[in-house]
Amino acid sequence: MENKELETNIPESEIAADAAVETPAFDDAAQKEKEEQAREAKIAADKLLPPDPDALLEVRHLKKHFILKKTLMGKPLSTLKAVDDVSFTVKSGETLGIVGESGCGKTTMGRTILKLHQPTDGQIFFEGKDIAGYSPKEMRALRTKMQIVFQDPYSSLPPRSTVGGILAEPVKVHNIVPKAEVKDYVLQIMEQCGLRDYYYERYPHEFSGGQRQRICIARALTVDPKLVVCDEPVSALDVSIQAQIINLLKKIQEERNLTYLFISHDLSVVKYISDKIGVMYLGSMVEFGEKDEIFDNPMHPYTNALFSAVPNPNPDEKVQRIILKGDIPSPANPPMGCKFHTRCPRAMEICKHIAPEYKEYGKGHFVACHACEQES
Ligand SMILES: Nc1ncnc2c1ncn2[C@@H]1O[C@H](COP(=O)(O)OP(=O)(O)OP(=O)(O)O)[C@@H](O)[C@H]1O
Ligand code: SF4
Ligand SMILES: [Mg+2]
Repeated sequence: MENKELETNIPESEIAADAAVETPAFDDAAQKEKEEQAREAKIAADKLLPPDPDALLEVRHLKKHFILKKTLMGKPLSTLKAVDDVSFTVKSGETLGIVGESGCGKTTMGRTILKLHQPTDGQIFFEGKDIAGYSPKEMRALRTKMQIVFQDPYSSLPPRSTVGGILAEPVKVHNIVPKAEVKDYVLQIMEQCGLRDYYYERYPHEFSGGQRQRICIARALTVDPKLVVCDEPVSALDVSIQAQIINLLKKIQEERNLTYLFISHDLSVVKYISDKIGVMYLGSMVEFGEKDEIFDNPMHPYTNALFSAVPNPNPDEKVQRIILKGDIPSPANPPMGCKFHTRCPRAMEICKHIAPEYKEYGKGHFVACHACEQES
């Protein structure tokens, strides 16, 4: 008989009683309200904590929501939670790699930290000061300390300026050195970025993608930043050029003690350059920790699925590829409970109703998952 192993001698009334205990009825509306209250209470309590003295950047409960539709009276009808309650810290000189599928909010998070988007809520401590509420005027003084390198080196350089003009402009605007020393200063940064001095008079269209990305990196360096958000800085480049740019970023990081927020969907690149890793899914950080800890001991089912897709250079080590079912849901209408439950191979009933808490498991290793909670 097909289901032989399921047959038991337990009376039906007892089975029904057990089932009732294992699958409690969830009141989703009440649960949502309860979660909201608990989250508000946690945010309020965390707000009172002093900033981490060791961190250059500390992000607490950061949110960036885009209003997609409004009523005639201006009331939001539909909101897209691109970044939804993200917290982490990065020390000076460290690289935090941010990974996750397309649309999970990596770019929005990077731009919100730099205040290129106004945060919806949360705290952004930079050098111990909460800049989340800073006005554009207050941010102007900080702009030199926080820079961004974009994915596409083709569209991020003005076509009608020479390389010298592009690099000298921020130096002059921010009075980095006296006027008479601007050219020498720019040439020195060009040399540091592997750009020959005669490129000074040339135009962006005369360069390859790799050289243009070097110009973009040089432009970020001209103002002597402390934090650089690198948003997919090598994904538009050939593989051979990618390694050169990554090595350049590493070299200048050591020379200048730079801190990077390195956004990429390429896990091999992230593994090479990062000290810490943050894994994002639908606007939330689902796992965060030291690079070696995350790669050696990934806990969240989504991290496991992402890592299983990376080709293993060792043919003797067989890694089973985890294929995620279904498409990534819309961040405008994310699933209730754990946002990953519609695709998670380990999903349980509770996951459909209750959002897991983002908790620390071991030193600095944070995970948001009911299964991890039950195993710990
Ligand atoms: N200005 C905006 N207005 C409305 N929605 C936006 C805006 N910017 C981004 N989004 C939405 O926010 C979500 C996150 O986008 P984001 O660009 O941050 O993702 P990403 O992780 O960087 O993706 P990718 O890997 O493709 O670059 C997406 O659903 C995107 O459509
Ligand atoms: S909480 Fe549940 S659905 Fe979400 S990742 Fe963990 S096991 Fe999967
Ligand atoms: Mg992006």
